[in-house]
Amino acid sequence: MKKFFKYLGVALIVLLIAIQFFHPKKNITEGPQQNFIGNAYPVSDDVKSIMAKACNDCHSNNTRYPWYAKIQPVHWFLNKHIIEGKEEINFDEFANKSLRYQFHKMDEVIKQVKEGEMPLNSYTWIHKDAKLTDEEKNKLINWAESIQDTLKAHYPMDSLVRPKK
Ligand code: HEC
Repeated sequence: MKKFFKYLGVALIVLLIAIQFFHPKKNITEGPQQNFIGNAYPVSDDVKSIMAKACNDCHSNNTRYPWYAKIQPVHWFLNKHIIEGKEEINFDEFANKSLRYQFHKMDEVIKQVKEGEMPLNSYTWIHKDAKLTDEEKNKLINWAESIQDTLKAHYPMDSLVRPKK
């Protein structure tokens, strides 16, 4: 039995060393982001800095990687959130999306921020400054609402929300 645990320990260490050589592709895209939400709607410096510290690592085309992302399997864990987050909403791939998508996603931003679901707990646990104050939450919510207002001012409601059958 003792021998078994010794082999198991060695096997785990070998595995841990081996996986250090496998890293997913990093979420880094150089240059200006053509479909950045700010190209279609005004984004104040305040909102920009809130998003930069609390959202963009998982919802943009550029993640600021912490040093420990160099250690596997941490990188895989972070990468999963980045991929899932970008799939849900990517602020760098927003301006080219349909009106309905844009309108709906602003609903989701309002909801997620109001309920304190975003940023993810696993993120604020490490990035303390990403834990949003009430003032920061309000700024984000007001901003998302202002985008919805702009849309409503320019387009009829049934082009923003699928009419109920
Ligand atoms: C650590 C990564 C991470 C951070 C930071 C983060 N998110 Fe997310 N976000 C995710 C993941 C993963 C999902 C999808 C799974 C889920 O909903 O929990 C998601 C889902 C969402 C959704 C849901 C979209 C939909 O249509 O249901 C919205 C909206 C959102 N995030 C907005 C934000 C905002 C705004 C911030 C900053 C205040 C933020 N997120 C910060 C990872 C992150």
